[in-house]
Amino acid sequence: MQTLKHVYISEIGKYEGQDVCLKGWLYNKRSSGKLHFLQVRDGTGIIQAVVFKGDVSPEAFEMAGRIQQESSIEVYGTVKEDKRSPIGFEIGVKDLKLIGEALEYPITPKEHGVAFLLEHRHLWLRSPRQLAIMKIRHNIIKTIRDYFNNNNFLLVDAPIFTPAACEGTTNLFETEYFDEKAYLTQSGQLYMEAAAMAFGKVYCFGPTFRAEKSKTRRHLTEFWMVEPEMAYYDLKMDMDLAEDFVETIVQSVVANNRAELEVLERDISKLENIKKPFPRISYDEAIEILKSKGKEIQWGEDFGGDEETVISEQFDRPVMIHRYPAECKAFYMKQDPESPKHALCVDMIAPEGYGEIIGGGQREDNLDLLLGKIKEHKLNQEAFEWYLDLRRYGSVPHAGFGLGIERTVGWLCGLHHVRETIPFPRMMERIKP
Ligand code: 4AD
Ligand code: MG
Repeated sequence: MQTLKHVYISEIGKYEGQDVCLKGWLYNKRSSGKLHFLQVRDGTGIIQAVVFKGDVSPEAFEMAGRIQQESSIEVYGTVKEDKRSPIGFEIGVKDLKLIGEALEYPITPKEHGVAFLLEHRHLWLRSPRQLAIMKIRHNIIKTIRDYFNNNNFLLVDAPIFTPAACEGTTNLFETEYFDEKAYLTQSGQLYMEAAAMAFGKVYCFGPTFRAEKSKTRRHLTEFWMVEPEMAYYDLKMDMDLAEDFVETIVQSVVANNRAELEVLERDISKLENIKKPFPRISYDEAIEILKSKGKEIQWGEDFGGDEETVISEQFDRPVMIHRYPAECKAFYMKQDPESPKHALCVDMIAPEGYGEIIGGGQREDNLDLLLGKIKEHKLNQEAFEWYLDLRRYGSVPHAGFGLGIERTVGWLCGLHHVRETIPFPRMMERIKP
């Protein structure tokens, strides 16, 4: 028996009628007299293994009756078609081997509070719902990498220790760096601008950090961001790329993750509808929408979660809001030559109230204007000298954006909060496990 081929549950259909070995964990169990029905999971799926007293040794039958949820076992038996099974097959068990016996498992099929589940995140990951989310996250990341790799972008990794702020100084994580101070990166953008001047079209993809002191359902302190940056691109080309990119991600999830979306009870029709073109409105138009919906907002203020939700409810697909007031955006945004109070930037807001998933725009390529912005924002010019060099040596129009992975996973999975979108979430009040 123990020489049988090890197969994964996701591929079980190929072995109908054959004897195989499964290696997994006991997910659930039901017994009646001479039968034990074991639900076995192996990370690729769940299958029912039927243990009939007459087919196995007395020791194996006793063990199947005794072991508790999450005990690890090897199952030897015959793959049989079963029309009632969600995966179409079950295993007729011939032998069982106990690998590691589990103590009483803390996460039972009954409902648990989120705080308890987050404390046990290392175990919570074993549930079918978390598997569905992680598979969708995996496919989103694969699609992103394929998209840029197939469109002549060069992957350029950005550093994590940085000497200066990219996205404002209020949420920097500071750390000691020998005799100096360093900060965990908030964004790889400034480095991607250097790389775009060297290589044309580039992207980085990595973890980014923000000491977000707000406890919202959209904020993590450590999140993953993919950031393309393109030389000789203006704001319109940037928006065209963002739109095509997001459509590709959503349609890949619709095509490849139907089973996972069903586990999550996601309304797939809402995602199928996410096709180009996406609506594009200016900040000034967005202000009009907000006022007409009774929101009190002054020109010049950035939008928060509430405003984003109200605007997104007007559309059935992501909306791109461009040309925000320069005063509420980062120092590197290019000023609109036709209206210097506005910046040539864009935010993409997901539908159904999932908030901003992309921030980006055209960068200030004029040395003097950029110097002025660094002063206005009270940034330490010395720390940005290398960045200013990019404007001294062959400056060109360029643009890019950053897409937050967790917000995108949250939207596509239909999750209320970003805490389930990343394997081990980091939030203001959570750094464990
Ligand atoms: O809009 P942000 O701050 O843009 C930048 O960092 C630019 N430098 C990117 C660029 O142009 N290369 O962040 C980009 C995206 C947001 O739209 C959001 O999806 C995500 O990153 N994000 C967060 N996700 C989770 N938790 C947080 N605290 C986040 N902050 C930003
Ligand atoms: Mg933003």
